[in-house]
Amino acid sequence: MDLDQRSSRIPGFYNMSIEERLKMIKEWGNLTDDELALLKNFGNLDPSIASCISENIIGVMCYPLSIAPNFKVNGKDYLIPMVTEEPSVVAAASNAARFMRKDEGIKALSDKQYMIAQIHVMKSPTPRYSALELLLHKDEILELANSTNKTLVSLGGGAKDIEVRVLETRRGPVLSVLLIVDVLDAMGANTVNTMAEAVAPFIEKITGGEARLKIVSNYAIYRLSRSWVKIPIDEIGQDVAEKIADASAIAEVDIFRAVTHNKGILNGIIAVALATAQDHRAIEAGAHAYAARSGSYKPLSTWNIENGYLIGILEIPLQVGTIGGTTKTHPVARIALKILNVKTAKELAEVMAAVGIAQNFAALKALVTTGIQAGHMKLHARNLAMMAGASGELADMIAETMVKEGKISFDYAKELLKRFTRGNSNS
Ligand code: MEV
Repeated sequence: MDLDQRSSRIPGFYNMSIEERLKMIKEWGNLTDDELALLKNFGNLDPSIASCISENIIGVMCYPLSIAPNFKVNGKDYLIPMVTEEPSVVAAASNAARFMRKDEGIKALSDKQYMIAQIHVMKSPTPRYSALELLLHKDEILELANSTNKTLVSLGGGAKDIEVRVLETRRGPVLSVLLIVDVLDAMGANTVNTMAEAVAPFIEKITGGEARLKIVSNYAIYRLSRSWVKIPIDEIGQDVAEKIADASAIAEVDIFRAVTHNKGILNGIIAVALATAQDHRAIEAGAHAYAARSGSYKPLSTWNIENGYLIGILEIPLQVGTIGGTTKTHPVARIALKILNVKTAKELAEVMAAVGIAQNFAALKALVTTGIQAGHMKLHARNLAMMAGASGELADMIAETMVKEGKISFDYAKELLKRFTRGNSNS
């Protein structure tokens, strides 16, 4: 059978058992029995939980869960659970955190946990007039929104305010109504989506228009987190400090650099997001949009020299939760949150912002000194050694040899493995 002519239309795939799906996928992917056995290993995520988290599951995929030690944020020590597929990220974060332990350590502060729901109304006969009418009916809109979540309101959260804008689109004027909701310790997307849908009919009545979209906005600009550090220049040297400030200045005027600079910040933040099962796409979308809020894309952090210190400041919207969603259904995410020992979503966001600035410092310091590849290559070499079949000290030895000789490849790792094991069996 021509494999490129097969149909992927499989009616009822979602209704099949995992076993049935696996049987089909084994054939489709020409998988070996060993590969199938690997897929059947659900590790620490029970199939019944995995099926609640996503659909059509055929297995789970493990990534390393690591701990970055050394973090002190607002005077409290944290061990940071991180999940990433990228070597060096965890090592860099823990290393950077060592420079940031003086006094209270990394400082961080998050806004209130305000999420935004959006209702877009089209076809209002009088959009500008309706915008003001909506403001006049603000209390009724908030009351309606809050009627959907009495618990949240009883805890002090709930819909707090509205904003209305009239936007011109190529399909005519649109009323953009923002519902601003204190979601407390939840990430809040579900909460605000429910509210948006609940208030939409009332908004339609007032505006005489049609509500098109009723959904969270991940541009979480009322949920900002800031972290800042003060590193004595004596500890890193004037030259390194100056060069880090140079790197910061370059990112401010060069979008090609700014994106990578921000990627480095997100390396840390997203690793914590993955470990605690946050909606990391929301965090990234929000972060990049915030970076571009002036109309041009900018770095989310800045580094400057002030009075003998290198000062780093990060500002980023962080939409994270400690209750609800997968944070609670995923058993490992629950453990990660326990290890983190954060009491609220606000505290979690502050710790994540702290990890972001530490990760950024680590990247810039490496870039302006040894370059990033030295560390990367060491880990890459070790990965290759392990892929070749080595482990433990033998893997370290092979990796070190490859790095020292500047010959880092899978073939050379295999050759060294043969050479070193031959050496051992001879002795
Ligand atoms: C690599 O994942 C991240 C860096 O590129 C970040 C940066 O350049 O600032 C090292």
